[in-house]
Amino acid sequence: LKRVKQLPDGFVWGGATAAYQVEGATKVDGKGKTMWDDYLAAQGRFSPDPASDFYHRYPEDIELAKLYGLNAVRVSIAWSRIFPDGAGEPNTAGVAYYHRLFADCIANGVTPYVSLHHFDTPKRLFDDGDWLNRATIDAFVRYADFCFGEFTEVQNWFTINELISLAFSQYIQGNFPPSHHFDVTSGIQAQHNELLAHARVVNLFKEKGYAGRIGLIHVLQPVYAYPETPANQHAADLEDAFMNRFLLDGTFKGEYTDATMALIDELLDANDAHLTIEPGDMEIIKAASTQNDYFGMNYYQPSFVTAYAGESTNSFNGTGEKGTSAFKFKGVGQHVKKPGVDQTDWDWNIYPEGMYDMLKRVATEYPNSKTIYITENGLGYKDEYQGVGQLINDDKRIDFIDRHVEALLQARVEGVDVQGYFVWSLQDQFSWANGYNKRYGLFYVNFDTQAREIKKSTLWFRELGRTIGG
Ligand code: BG6
Repeated sequence: LKRVKQLPDGFVWGGATAAYQVEGATKVDGKGKTMWDDYLAAQGRFSPDPASDFYHRYPEDIELAKLYGLNAVRVSIAWSRIFPDGAGEPNTAGVAYYHRLFADCIANGVTPYVSLHHFDTPKRLFDDGDWLNRATIDAFVRYADFCFGEFTEVQNWFTINELISLAFSQYIQGNFPPSHHFDVTSGIQAQHNELLAHARVVNLFKEKGYAGRIGLIHVLQPVYAYPETPANQHAADLEDAFMNRFLLDGTFKGEYTDATMALIDELLDANDAHLTIEPGDMEIIKAASTQNDYFGMNYYQPSFVTAYAGESTNSFNGTGEKGTSAFKFKGVGQHVKKPGVDQTDWDWNIYPEGMYDMLKRVATEYPNSKTIYITENGLGYKDEYQGVGQLINDDKRIDFIDRHVEALLQARVEGVDVQGYFVWSLQDQFSWANGYNKRYGLFYVNFDTQAREIKKSTLWFRELGRTIGG
């Protein structure tokens, strides 16, 4: 563990959660529905209740976080606990819950990093078009303003988690409600509108002089041509523009550059799609682009891409059956497996070099990103329960995290300002499209009893954390 001594005092060492994935209690204390409640009920596959029962058991989880060496935790506020319909009068029971949670974190020396939106738009707003309807942006700004004024104990804010994942899963992949497949117009428009919402909130945060720091979270998924030919490289560039570059440009350059738009336009043309930018949008986005205090980067995996001209198809592997994923994007590319690159049980490529590449790229091409935190990284795995008090063997997770922390350190040594690492996830939790057997937690949750157990990685992660300042 010698290398970890390279990290500075105060390095943020945390675990991440999202409200809907951990809280449960979806019908408690006046909470409104989100975009997920009826959708999941209609599917009948998984219930979001009680998930990890964090709504009631947060004291235990925060205590475990402290005990196992974490100095920070990522949580999100459920918009529909604060404003059950997305707007109107605040729900005092919901507000009180988050005050209790934040107070508990702070009392334990576990700093809360708080997102305002993590894939959980209130149902009323979702029914009216979600981010495709600009009324959602107005409502989001009011909700954010309320939270900044109310939760003054929070010093580290993120507006929206993974703008692209939401847009992509809702309108391209179709595994998030409303489950459109390859609706490319909505897929690009949702990205722009979410970015606009983020920008308006950042501008407001600064204009009103709220204390603390604000930023947003992008998941970055590097795209590599495989095999490396000019045609495949172009396919990779097209996918990269849609998955990474459009939002990175907008967030930190305050414009979608001509080079980026040339790729986006080609991709839109190939799919008979279009993007609408209204007058004034880019001024708002420009103003925000220099005002982010930091950047939250989630990283899981890259894609390897071969050019593809056929029709779009996607067989989403939600079952955990290895080898069943396939993604082909008309006029863009198809995902291929690169020999020698291991995959998880859900066909996700295991490739720490991708984290290194993205850290370097962001620091080099997007200096307005300033300080970077890895706000999510981890391995989805079918951990097997060994009985009460028995260590769960997750050597694969240890190896995964170890190699990714190594990549982070390498980027740091080369000058990238990375100040924190949050493992996804703090405890086992509800995985949106996969349910409960895709576990990521630092702590094991027995979903029958809600008992927490320790994994090998829990102890290993504490050892790693012990050698860093904080
Ligand atoms: C990120 C999200 O995209 O990846 C999390 O921010 C999510 O909410 C995580 O759970 C892992 O994805 P999945 O589909 O394996 O749960």
